[in-house]
This record gives sequence, structure tokens and C-alpha cells, in this order.
Amino acid sequence: MGKCPDCGVWDSLEEQRVDKGANRDPQRGVVESWQALGPDARAGLAGAPDAKPISEIMPGTAGLARLPTGIGELDRVLGGGLVPASAVLIGGAPGIGKSTLMLQAAQTLAARNARVLYVSSEESAEQVRLRAERLSEDGGEASSGRAGGADASRSLSDNLFVLADTNLARIVEQTRKVGPAVLVIDSVQMIYKADLDASPGSVAQLRRCCSELVYLAKASGIIVLLVGHVTKEGALAGPRLLEHLVDAVLYFEGDRYHAHRLVRGIKNRFGTTLELGIFEMTGRGLREVPEGASVSALTGEIGGEARPGSVVCPVVSGTRCILVELQALTATGFLGAAKRKSSGLDSNRLAMLIAILEQHAGLRLADRDVFASAVGGIRVVEPASDLALLLAIAGAHYKRALSPATAGVGEVGLGGEVRPVTQLEQRLREAERLGYRRLLAPKAPGSAKSSKHGNLEIVRVRTIGEAIEQLG
Ligand code: TYD
Ligand code: MG
Repeated sequence: MGKCPDCGVWDSLEEQRVDKGANRDPQRGVVESWQALGPDARAGLAGAPDAKPISEIMPGTAGLARLPTGIGELDRVLGGGLVPASAVLIGGAPGIGKSTLMLQAAQTLAARNARVLYVSSEESAEQVRLRAERLSEDGGEASSGRAGGADASRSLSDNLFVLADTNLARIVEQTRKVGPAVLVIDSVQMIYKADLDASPGSVAQLRRCCSELVYLAKASGIIVLLVGHVTKEGALAGPRLLEHLVDAVLYFEGDRYHAHRLVRGIKNRFGTTLELGIFEMTGRGLREVPEGASVSALTGEIGGEARPGSVVCPVVSGTRCILVELQALTATGFLGAAKRKSSGLDSNRLAMLIAILEQHAGLRLADRDVFASAVGGIRVVEPASDLALLLAIAGAHYKRALSPATAGVGEVGLGGEVRPVTQLEQRLREAERLGYRRLLAPKAPGSAKSSKHGNLEIVRVRTIGEAIEQLG
């Protein structure tokens, strides 16, 4: 059918063949290739499991110590390192740095005497080596006297194995041979299982290959890292459908045109999902942006000319606080068909803030298009960013700006009141440390209208009206 009978969209139907092996036990493929390993690995798989009291269940490998990758920001997002026998999915847009991060992690792991098998299904083994050489020049920082190809190859560890293959059976065979602690599959979309009719990259292949790799992790204790591409829209036979199969899911945020890359935990069976890892893409791979370093790309120059429609907000993610610039623009639109577009922000919240501005601050936005975005490709969904976004929209509308080096934080309620936020102390500290002079913050019971926190003046606002008065 050319047209979908359900939604009426043309050319949207995709052929999906029924997987002939679907009624087989999905563990079998792995069992077959794993049998040579030894009696205990087989015992774990062959016998059907019995139900037993929870107190008699031995933690086994899941209770073992985590294996830190040696990349601090990545370890923090993972909740302290990789958990043995777990499967982790790393998603992100093409070109964002997934392969780079995986190869860097593989290299640091290998340098710490963990055996790693890096399966590249997109690049040749030579390409991986060239990239690894370039990345390992990074070690030159500590020993800056040395440079050049010969030294670079010396720092390539023999614990890191590279395989360029896309056939799952052959990959499992090689994994058995190498016996790694960590297996990286870059990317899972290119892997195929030959006894499946579906073509590589199709939903059936992706799901089967991924579930077999997850079983491989569980059966063997190997940590499996799966790399998957997501399109800008996020869907399309992408890793979204693999999320429930794996133990942890990390997504890259940011875009390839900016230097900063953020890695956020979306799902984690062994830790929190609040953490955010911050990296900077350099000529020699991803560099960690440690706690306390300023991420100036996200805020522009502090204390520079204040622009209407731009407000900086201290956003807390997990244990980190970063300052992010929120921007808004209003333009002439059509009554009844005004556009509300946002990038990196929650569009429902944007609509709500526009309604609040109309109702409680008397702005007329019904015939204005409103565009809003978070700078640097970061996603800001914290309600504490409401006040900054609201001020950006109002500022864009009135063409007025806050005074220079001013930031704002607060949740906005439907009644136009500014509500308290969590971790205000941490946000104050970070804003002050980075050189901000004023911060608009919610009024807490008993707090003075204006107070000082070091060099930072805190202006308490109770309603959005009081906040809008602060626009010059
Ligand atoms: P890559 O890791 O290949 O992206 P992905 O696997 O997510 O598709 O890297 C993407 C970009 O990063 C690439 O366009 C070039 C850039 N890059 C650097 O700037 N410096 C480097 O050292 C490396 C390896 C890549
Ligand atoms: Mg890649």
C-alpha cells in the first residue's frame, strides 16, 4: 500500500518480514557458540531455572566490583563504572562522538589491564588504528617531550583487540577466542545474523542481534557496550527499541557543530539517571570538562553586552550545576496560527509559559511567533528554568534585557507566582564562581528582598510581574 490507511501519510509503510527463528529460544544461538567455554558456563544456560527464595539467590557477578573506565565523566554517568555482565547502550546522532568515546574508553581500560575487544562494523581495522593513534597522542600531555608516530604506536596496548566484522556468529566466535572483559559493538545497527531473512539494519535484525548480545553478557560475565545511531527525530529503527533490553542507556546531547558534548544517563539499573557528563571535542578526541570548569560555550561571554531575549539559568543535573543560556525570539505571525517552536526545551512548558505571560503579565502573543532554544544543543527540561525562559520571551517581546551578568532561576506556577527550586545554594555558588553579579531567585519565606552571596546579589522575586520589572 502506498498510503497508510490509518494516518493517511504516503510512502510511510515499511516491509517487515516475519522472523522464522522467532519461535526458537533466543538464548540458543548464544548457547551454541558458547558451549566450548566450559561446564559452568553451560550449566548456567542449559538447565531451566528453578524458582527459589530470594535469600538463597547468590549475587554472583552482579555483586562484583565495578570496572571503572578511567574516564571520570563517563564513570560518573554510569554510576561509578561498568558493572560486570551488563549491557550498556550508547546512543547519539551520527558524528557526535560515540566511536571516539568508546575507543577512548577501550584504550584506558586496556591500559589498566582489562582485555577489550572493539568490534567495528563501520570502519576498517586500519581506520580504527589510525584513530586510536591520534587519540593516544593525548597521553603526550603528561610526557610532552615525546611525539611522533613511533611513540604513539608504543602507547597502543596489546590488551585492545580490534575486529572489523558485521556477522554476529563470527563476532561471538572471536569474542570466545579473545576472552575480553569488555566487548564494544560499534555500531549495533550494522550487525546481522545470517539465519534471519531480514536485511541488516532492519528492526527484526536489530532486535535479535541486540538481545543475543545481551544474553551473551549475562551468560559470560562480559560487559557489552552497544553503540547505536539515533536520527535527529529520535525514532527510525533506532536504539529506542533496544532501551528495554539493556541495563543502562546513555545518550549524547549537543550537536556536532559545537565543541561541547553531553552524555546523559536515560536508564540505569545500577545507578541514578540524573547524571550528566560533559566533554569537549578536541583535535585529539573527547576531553573531559571537570567539575568547576566553566562551559562558556553554553552561556556566551559573562558580563558582555546584555541582549534582549537571552537569559542565563543555572541548571542542576545530578550532582553538577551548569549555567546555560536560554534564548527566545518573537516575530510577526498570524492570529490563530502563531508558531511556537523550541529546541532543547520542553514545548509543553513553552506553551504554558506563553499562556502565563498573556494571562498574568498582559503580553499579547496570540499573533506572535515564538521561538525558543537552549544554547549549545543541551536539553534543559528542569522546571527551575521556567523563570529564565519566561524572561527571555518577555525580553524578546519588549526588546529589553536584564542588566549584564545577571542570571535567573525559579519555577513558574500557573498563577504567575515564582516557586522555590531545589539546590538553590549550589546554583548560587556556581553562578558566583563563574562571575555573575546578580541572580533573580524565588522568594523564600523570611528571606530578604535582596541579599548578598559573596559578590553575587540575590534579588528575590515573588511573581512574574516583579521579575519582568527587572528587564531594563
Ligand atoms: P565519531 O566518534 O566518529 O562520531 P560517531 O561515532 O558518533 O558517528 O566522531 C565524530 C566527529 O568528531 C568527527 O566528525 C570528527 C570529530 N573528531 C574530532 O574533532 N577530533 C577527534 O580526535 C576525533 C577522533 C573526531
Ligand atoms: Mg561511529
